[in-house]
Amino acid sequence: MKIRQALSCDAGKLHALEEELFSAADFPLSHRSFYYHIHHNLLYVAETEAGAIAGYALALIQRRDAKLYSLGVASVHRGSGLSGLLMRQILQQLAILGFKRTLLEVRCDNTPAIALYRKFGFSITKKLDAFYRDGCDAYLMEKEHA
Ligand SMILES: CC(C)(COP(=O)(O)OP(=O)(O)OC[C@H]1O[C@@H](n2cnc3c(N)ncnc32)[C@H](O)[C@@H]1OP(=O)(O)O)[C@@H](O)C(=O)NCCC(=O)NCCS
Repeated sequence: MKIRQALSCDAGKLHALEEELFSAADFPLSHRSFYYHIHHNLLYVAETEAGAIAGYALALIQRRDAKLYSLGVASVHRGSGLSGLLMRQILQQLAILGFKRTLLEVRCDNTPAIALYRKFGFSITKKLDAFYRDGCDAYLMEKEHA
């Protein structure tokens, strides 16, 4: 498994993975959005030996704070530390870019993701009522970079 920055040619595979990972209520990214983020933000992929995309992490490069916008691992590759590798890579790069703080939003019912973010030093700072299209609340989580 290799962690690398995404390229334009990855947009199609990323969109296919997105359809597996998220439902319409979760604001899934379109093919066009992936293409845009590859060129304007920070997007890392986990690529298998066979060239498949097993997971990705996307952070938005904003004026003040960075935002960890999306992250996911294909179900067949879960539980083997892949999201940890993607998190480590993207947070390290955000710190190198000089960001002091990274924010994210996560569904309150997404226990695995909340545990992952806590493990990487994020804490809940706010609850955002009915944030998602299906009415689910979100937690706003933040991490200060050292
Ligand atoms: C959340 C997600 C990215 C985790 O990916 P993963 O590669 O299986 O996670 P890892 O194996 O790297 O585990 C890293 C940490 O995540 C947490 N975690 C992962 N799966 C978990 C589970 N089923 N239950 C509780 N915690 C879990 C743990 O803290 C784990 O650390 P540990 O192994 O030391 O306990 C994956 O479940 C996923 O893609 N879910 C669907 C998309 C999604 O919800 N993305 C987040 C949107 S905000």
